[in-house]
Amino acid sequence: MAKIYASKVKEESQREKRNMARSRGIATQGMVLLKNDGVLPLTVPKYPIAVFGSGVRHTVKGGTGSGDVNSRSVCNVEQGLKDGGFLIGTDPWLNRYDALCSEHMNSYMQCFVAELTRKGQAGVLYALENPYRDPDVPTIIEDDLKGLDKSLALYIIARTSGEGSDRRVIGGDYELSEGEKSNLEILCKKFEKVVVVLNVGGVIDTEFFRNNDKVGAVLLMSQLGNISGAALTDILTGKVNPSGRLAATWAQKYLDYPCADTFGHRNGDVADEYYSEGIFVGYRWFDSFGVTPAYPFGYGLSYSDFKINTDSVTADGCSLKLKVTVTNIGDRYTGKETVQVYVSQPAGKVQKPYQVLAGFAKTGDIKPGESTTVTIRIALTDLASYDEKTSSWILEKGEYTVRVGKHSRSSRIEAVLVLESDVVTKKLKKCLLPDCEIDEAKADRANFYTYSDETKEYEKALRIKVDPEAINTQTVSYSDEPMLLTTNQKNTVTLQDVLSKSAAVDDIVSQLSNEELALLCVGTARGGFGSTSVIGAASTACPGAAGDTTSELINTRGITNLVLADGPAGLRLSKTFVADSEGNVIPGLGESAMGGIEQLLGMPVPARPDGAIDYYQYCTAIPIATALAQTWDMELISHAGDIVGEEMEEFGVTLWLAPGMNIQRNPLCGRNFEYYSEDPFLSGKCASATITGVQKHKGCGACIKHFALNNLEDNRSHNNSHATERTIREIYLRGFEIAVEDAQPLSLMTSYNLLNGLHTANSYELLTSVLRDEWKFKGVVMTDWGTTGGGDMNPAMDSKYGFSDPALCIKAGNDLIMPGSQEDVDAILSDVKFGKLNRAYLQTSAKRVIELVLYREQSMITDKETSNE
Ligand code: BGC
Repeated sequence: MAKIYASKVKEESQREKRNMARSRGIATQGMVLLKNDGVLPLTVPKYPIAVFGSGVRHTVKGGTGSGDVNSRSVCNVEQGLKDGGFLIGTDPWLNRYDALCSEHMNSYMQCFVAELTRKGQAGVLYALENPYRDPDVPTIIEDDLKGLDKSLALYIIARTSGEGSDRRVIGGDYELSEGEKSNLEILCKKFEKVVVVLNVGGVIDTEFFRNNDKVGAVLLMSQLGNISGAALTDILTGKVNPSGRLAATWAQKYLDYPCADTFGHRNGDVADEYYSEGIFVGYRWFDSFGVTPAYPFGYGLSYSDFKINTDSVTADGCSLKLKVTVTNIGDRYTGKETVQVYVSQPAGKVQKPYQVLAGFAKTGDIKPGESTTVTIRIALTDLASYDEKTSSWILEKGEYTVRVGKHSRSSRIEAVLVLESDVVTKKLKKCLLPDCEIDEAKADRANFYTYSDETKEYEKALRIKVDPEAINTQTVSYSDEPMLLTTNQKNTVTLQDVLSKSAAVDDIVSQLSNEELALLCVGTARGGFGSTSVIGAASTACPGAAGDTTSELINTRGITNLVLADGPAGLRLSKTFVADSEGNVIPGLGESAMGGIEQLLGMPVPARPDGAIDYYQYCTAIPIATALAQTWDMELISHAGDIVGEEMEEFGVTLWLAPGMNIQRNPLCGRNFEYYSEDPFLSGKCASATITGVQKHKGCGACIKHFALNNLEDNRSHNNSHATERTIREIYLRGFEIAVEDAQPLSLMTSYNLLNGLHTANSYELLTSVLRDEWKFKGVVMTDWGTTGGGDMNPAMDSKYGFSDPALCIKAGNDLIMPGSQEDVDAILSDVKFGKLNRAYLQTSAKRVIELVLYREQSMITDKETSNE
């Protein structure tokens, strides 16, 4: 019987209150003011105001699927405004929309049940492929406006998306719906000013707002977790001055994005995805191909204004140091600014984008008229490009132009670094090669973005010579086949022996049978992961967690099970559950895992035994990853990680299945809200900050995911991402590399897709050569859920590419197959038996899992010791 960590107290705890307040503070920093003619901030009027839009009551706190967090409550926009003293005069319209939504939900549920009964499909799969979406908004009628003051209307646009399906360029998704368009037109006619708030997880079309003077302000609220409405009110009223900056480029129109026509479903082919735009993702594309964005990467307004002055740029050995003074030149509002440094690399044998983000710093609060100075350090090796011909990272000789500004299109040239000869910074082996010819985009420097004073600035800029000799070349040595472990220990060695230092992990591993080793490498879900549980609900020890590692070796070896729970917008657990008096969790009692669908499906609800106890696991829904990235404040992001780490400790969770750190390659990816940015450097830094916050808590670890090139959701398990080695390394792996090198997450999750013809879960090159040999990753690698097709995730008969192979996972260095099935165990054992998988590989993976258990046990001992002192 597993230990229950959950609370028996239903009432809101001090920890919940404290973390909600912290989360509100973080959320206010992640909102981006896109447009403001002075209408914001608002003074709270005495009369009722006009507030319309899908997001007023149906505020989206974060997307769906495993990225959704089951918080106790959500403060929607309506509540937030009311708590902030606003009176709302649009109840009849809001009530009409409520009625529409519940009707819509009822018919969705009926359809859901009918489809499940007809197809015998697992509920989770149906829901992922056919997610519920709120209906279009009702048209505003004359009666809705009667008696309302006409100086200002607020319009809240909400969007949702989630894993398993991508977004579409249609009304109500990327585009405005018909209802939204006509409502906005009505409001622009009837009101002096309209303020639009975007409660969205990713980019939507903004043409209507940009080109309409009646729309006085547009605020990207983003999706902010359970304190959403309260945080929004803080910004609208000016209690907090907005300081968020975009972490992705917002295009003028969808077709301006590089892979607009070929992305996923757009060209009808969801089996093969060709990364033909190469390294030109996000602003790298817009800046290098002469496309003007609506709102550039790094952009955001404030209620105040700031002046940036670069005091000095110096190069010392292998790094660059900038001192920049920021002055608040406004006269009313205290606020924060983000200094961003971009570098343009020299033309050479490897083509370069116009510029890349190389460093940044967010200031603290600056009062009007006051200044603050920030220091930004940039490692010269971070400016290297990957040269496929020589399989090395190189700094090509030439000039590196250093640009400092408030966003990617506002910078000024502050220095030029001069490197007189090529330098190889890291020598690697050739790997991850494409499985077909990829016709990558080629940029013409004549089309690069420029501005009127650029040439003048360049000519006048300070020249700094960099000594090529000062930069070291690192040469990577790659692993050989693992050696079979053996032991001289005759007695049965347990984890306690290792803890007391009388034996080593190797002794246990050597003594374990193949079956025991395989159990350690396969999660514990049995009897159908898809039908009996929703995503992220396969743990028996901690209801609502995504999975457990084996408990089979507790009695014989003292190897306890680990609990793994989702993220990234907080800790995803069931809010409540029921256990009998002995502490056995009773499935089907307490919070429904499937939102009440069990009853509709006629699934029996077990009787509540005498003495049963209710448990509570209320966690904080923090802002989505994109909103965190938009803060550009790494300390604050580590606080978000700290909130999660604290709750992991409380509920006995070892690994948090987050941060998600795929690159936002195209705005239609259904999971972009779970990811930080289109830029690998920013993504890597945000992930490192999050991991640091989580791993401050003893025995708790982060799991970065989904490694790698998991950039679309339709057909995600059977999609083949085709890309060149340079594109893979510079854009899609770079963030992971930074996170591993800066913060050593305890674990990493592979993706569902294939990369150049091989499931990432089965890629030795990715998981051993790159991750462990090149980056020195020390933790456990696990698969994404069901990627081997075990349990009842029936092989997709009609898919071009099948599932990954369990034994190949182990051989590749993928230590843990999740959520695990008996088929996975059997497949591994059969390959060992028939000589296809060397036992040494199985030992290596099992050893890593045991080391993680050991780490957790050690931290629990230290905790006990500390509490006994
Ligand atoms: C998602 C992962 C998640 C896992 C467990 C999968 O469907 O892709 O991100 O961690 O489920 O819930």
